[in-house]
Amino acid sequence: MSDLALLGGPRTITELPPDFGLWPMAGAEEEAAVLEVLRGGDWSLPQVTFDFEREFAAYVGAPFALAHNNGTSAIHAALFAVGVKPGDEVIAQSYTYWATMMPALCVGAIPIFAEVEERTLGLDPEDVERKITSRTRAIVVVHLHGQPADMDAINALARPRGIAVIEDASHAHGAKLNGRSIGMLGDVGAFSLQSSKLLPSGEGGILVTAEREYYERACLLGHYERIASLENEAYRRYARTCYGYKYRINPLAAAIARVQLRHLDERNAKRNHNIDRFHAGLDGLPGLHLVKGVPDAEAVHYQNAMLFVPGELGGLTRDRFLEACAAEGAGMGGERYDGLHEQQIFLDFDADGISETYVVPRRDDGKLRYGHGTLPRTEDILQRVILTPTFAAAEDALVDLWIAAIRKVIEHHRDLL
Ligand SMILES: Cc1ncc(COP(=O)(O)O)c(C=O)c1O
Repeated sequence: MSDLALLGGPRTITELPPDFGLWPMAGAEEEAAVLEVLRGGDWSLPQVTFDFEREFAAYVGAPFALAHNNGTSAIHAALFAVGVKPGDEVIAQSYTYWATMMPALCVGAIPIFAEVEERTLGLDPEDVERKITSRTRAIVVVHLHGQPADMDAINALARPRGIAVIEDASHAHGAKLNGRSIGMLGDVGAFSLQSSKLLPSGEGGILVTAEREYYERACLLGHYERIASLENEAYRRYARTCYGYKYRINPLAAAIARVQLRHLDERNAKRNHNIDRFHAGLDGLPGLHLVKGVPDAEAVHYQNAMLFVPGELGGLTRDRFLEACAAEGAGMGGERYDGLHEQQIFLDFDADGISETYVVPRRDDGKLRYGHGTLPRTEDILQRVILTPTFAAAEDALVDLWIAAIRKVIEHHRDLL
């Protein structure tokens, strides 16, 4: 007879507060802000969009901010802004949401995937260095789950080679590194404001940069209404057509985002308090490695990932561990992302770099390296990730119960073998 709930013992968490992970949080302030736009009559580009840009720019310390209809378009604009052209190579990690890399195809670039490191789950600078070629034009760094990637190392590789660094900051609103806001540590930062994000607007995105040139090029791609007033005369010639996209934010979303921004720090602080407590309760346990980040990183917690280490638990599988935790009332899951390098759209490219939808120029070595086996560390990590709740609205007592449930399963793991 085992103490584990899965094997007939008592359950650790008998009742879950229904809203302990409540997200997004919205109320009367959002309703009033949306109503104001509705009643204002201009539903395309009213003042609220510019107000949101100004406030978000001030929040991250950016001279320029450009709101977008989603994060994907903001990343597309960032790639275009820094001048990525057909045939250039763009490096990003494969363990991420698709939009970190997919817009590279939209500018005709060749996606090159690099490994992640366990410390941050962000890009591994050593593997990035191995993958840099004379054609590398940009590196897209994602701060996965809100944990700042090793920007110092990536910038040190990129700057001397003239490679642009774009931050996909979609998971990291409010995070900092060396005291500076994530999104402002490379050349251009792009944030998603989709409704699960730390700064949700429904659907939306925002691009930030310190360089007027990048801002103006982002306008050129998808904001024709702003082109006539750009400083660069050559760009003003495209005021009628822009470059074929229309990426402005819905002002109702901008209105929601403004309100959410006012609450961002307080809501991040709540998650941080709970995850710090959670980590303190689990640190040092066999079988679980916490993602601790680089020194001087101030992470936020869009998600919280731990790495399962079966070898420290007698070969227990992650699925069996998760099953036992769920039986204790502490439901968690594996990663929801698959490796991007294994997705069909990349497997579709033939040796000449042609697929039904896209053409990417042949690499000098004639090979496009995608598919299973090309990123062994990433593939291994993806099998070992456990996503925990981020306890957005939980009290300490629930966090403590969650810790107790996990500790119990680890203590009795032999019963599961
Ligand atoms: C890491 C990352 N990058 C980019 C995006 C794309 O953002 P959106 O869904 O707003 O287009 C997302 C979000 O969904 C994301 O999680």
